[in-house]
Amino acid sequence: MSTDTPDPRDAPDPGPGEAVACTRLTYSFGETTAVDALDLTVREGEVFGLLGPNGAGKTTAIRCVTTLLPVSAGLVRVFGHDAAKDRMAVRRLLGYVPQQLSADSGLTGRENVALFARVFDVPRRERAARVAEALAAVDLADAADRLAGTYSGGMVRRLELAQALVSAPRLLILDEPTIGLDPIARTGVWDHINAVRAATGMTVLVTTHYMDEADQYCDRVGLMHRGRIRALGTPGELRRGLAERRGTDTEPTLEDVFRDIAGSGLDDNTAGGFRDVRSTRRTARRVG
Ligand SMILES: Nc1ncnc2c1ncn2[C@@H]1O[C@H](COP(=O)(O)OP(=O)(O)OP(=O)(O)O)[C@@H](O)[C@H]1O
Ligand SMILES: [Mg+2]
Repeated sequence: MSTDTPDPRDAPDPGPGEAVACTRLTYSFGETTAVDALDLTVREGEVFGLLGPNGAGKTTAIRCVTTLLPVSAGLVRVFGHDAAKDRMAVRRLLGYVPQQLSADSGLTGRENVALFARVFDVPRRERAARVAEALAAVDLADAADRLAGTYSGGMVRRLELAQALVSAPRLLILDEPTIGLDPIARTGVWDHINAVRAATGMTVLVTTHYMDEADQYCDRVGLMHRGRIRALGTPGELRRGLAERRGTDTEPTLEDVFRDIAGSGLDDNTAGGFRDVRSTRRTARRVG
């Protein structure tokens, strides 16, 4: 796709209230089609959970939305901005917590967040105050001037949340924000996210392998498998849908829905299985 300066008249009208709209988004690594004609809409203000087995294509799709990977085929719009044509406009609207840890252990918490404030164009005059606010929002004010290398896993994940929040994004994208955290720390991360949402109306796109989290915190979930969404709805709709298909009265869990749609996941994903498991373990070890 063209990387020329965009003509706003070329951009198709965004759907009403759409934060993210992927239309037939496709992305391949060599022979591996990681994202396969994906259609996905995230509504403004909602918490959308992108679920799916290792190698389903979640991180790849997310990286296309953040503009870190080019949109090679299909269309991605973020609040109406075309991610292929208007990358800077898209980047200014979002905060991103990647799956792989991104905090620099040789900098203090405050320096890490300040770095993001600079990269994400927070006006110079406001930076110090915004950095302090973001650190306070995730309960790291007291530890702000310690090296991030001395933080526990939960503190590192909260620091990364502060990095993503410092630019006051309209869209927060979190790739497995709670991996490797204890149950209290997991709840803490969600409490911080929800406090910011309540204050700002921020939209959240999140991936997680914790089905209980998806059930509790996501307004809608999309179950991705082999590059596409295979089931979409509120957690309750998906659970009841499976109960109907099975003809049972006992309501299945979201994990049952996951197993039903994705099967064993790794077995039928030989191309990506090993790399993904390895990188997930590495992340879990570093955080945990
Ligand atoms: N940099 C890369 N080079 C080659 N192949 C890649 C690369 N990144 C991802 N893939 C492949 O693309 C497919 C989708 O990977 P992706 O990381 O998007 O999955 P995921 O749904 O995020 O998985 P997980 O739950 O393990 O994080 C996999 O087959 C993976 O091996
Ligand atoms: Mg991933």
